[in-house]
Amino acid sequence: MKENSLIIKNASELVTCSGFKAKRGKEMSDIHVIEDGAVVIEEGIIKAVGKTDEILKQHDEKSYQVIDASGKAVLPGFVDSHTHFVFGGYRAEEFYWRLRGDSYMEIMQRGGGIVNSVKATKEASMEELIKTGSERLDSMLSFGVTTVEGKSGYGLDMETEIKQLKVMEELDKNHPIDIVRTFMPAHATPVEYKGKTDEYVDLIINDMMPKVAELKLAEFSDVFCEKNVFSIEQTRRIQQKAKGLGFKLKLHADEIVQFGGAELAAELGAVSADHLLQVSDKGIQDMARQGVVATLLPCTAFSLKESFAPGRKMIDMGCAVALATDFNPGSCFTESIALTFALATLQMNIRLEEAITALTINAAAALDRAGEIGSLDPGKKGDVLILEFPSYKFIPYHIGVSTVEKVIKKGKLVFD
Ligand code: NIG
Ligand code: FE
Repeated sequence: MKENSLIIKNASELVTCSGFKAKRGKEMSDIHVIEDGAVVIEEGIIKAVGKTDEILKQHDEKSYQVIDASGKAVLPGFVDSHTHFVFGGYRAEEFYWRLRGDSYMEIMQRGGGIVNSVKATKEASMEELIKTGSERLDSMLSFGVTTVEGKSGYGLDMETEIKQLKVMEELDKNHPIDIVRTFMPAHATPVEYKGKTDEYVDLIINDMMPKVAELKLAEFSDVFCEKNVFSIEQTRRIQQKAKGLGFKLKLHADEIVQFGGAELAAELGAVSADHLLQVSDKGIQDMARQGVVATLLPCTAFSLKESFAPGRKMIDMGCAVALATDFNPGSCFTESIALTFALATLQMNIRLEEAITALTINAAAALDRAGEIGSLDPGKKGDVLILEFPSYKFIPYHIGVSTVEKVIKKGKLVFD
């Protein structure tokens, strides 16, 4: 029997999400369902996908580990393409204040928010961050996540930003979930630079960014582009430098106020623009035209008691939409893919097939990995979910509860 070689057979629905690039607009409904389907994985890579009887004619079951998925739906692993999962401490007190009426920005402006997590992350050792990070990844795996993006941004100094990225590098080696690293020193202005954000931007551009590029610790660069955080001009300076150093780009854009973030993402050629609660119509058009993936984070809007991003409109206007959790200690302390599905389908008027696309192939595209993950296509990684129910239609129906029974990562059963 070959290493990590597996046949999953008799799936009542094999949802392949077939495709090698982001699906835009109407294409998002196209999830390609094979009834009584099977998938063959050899040495961690998908070899064949089709009807069970045809697959078994061509592949001898004796050479493989076999999982009988009778009465179960099978899907590609979910991709959570926007999280901040490595951090020290918690901010339950701030959440409690928000329940009583304070806003996220008010808390940030009176010296709380991200900088509180920065203090706790500076104090935490690598070992502590690896331990909590690993526990969080275990929970994500139980929701069916097989690839996650993680951002720095709770250091805001060279040493701690690098510590966060190294924690993710280590976790990537030792945990089944693949981790894509994003460098985000422009998450807030550190307390030492209060009132001197331009000087902090200089530090990022002249010192931090070249060092992280040299150490090859991150693939993406991200900026919290928002009123009273980083301006359009500061964001442009940081991301132009990042691009020149070979980083791919993401932006936290138009989250709290309409700010021109989506337009800037399109201008810079960013891979994705994320949040977009307040995006303008021009911003949507620009993203659609330039192929910027619009990554929506409904759990954050829910947690902040804000109105949801106009996801329906973006799909109707031809955007490629992805969904992610935004798991972080402040604005959205949840890694729940189940809640993400619930809010997208029940509150944002995104159709279930579109939401599945948004958490698989489009989320893979948001990480520039649509050629490797995000669908059950030959040549891609053998990252597969088996649900406890016969149809993908159970995913949002079992509201807020994970329907994932088994997770296979690169052909290996890693959650059961
Ligand atoms: O994506 N918007 C900025 N950054 C995070 C929040 C981080 C935090 O509050 O710790 C977000 O919502
Ligand atoms: Fe975020």
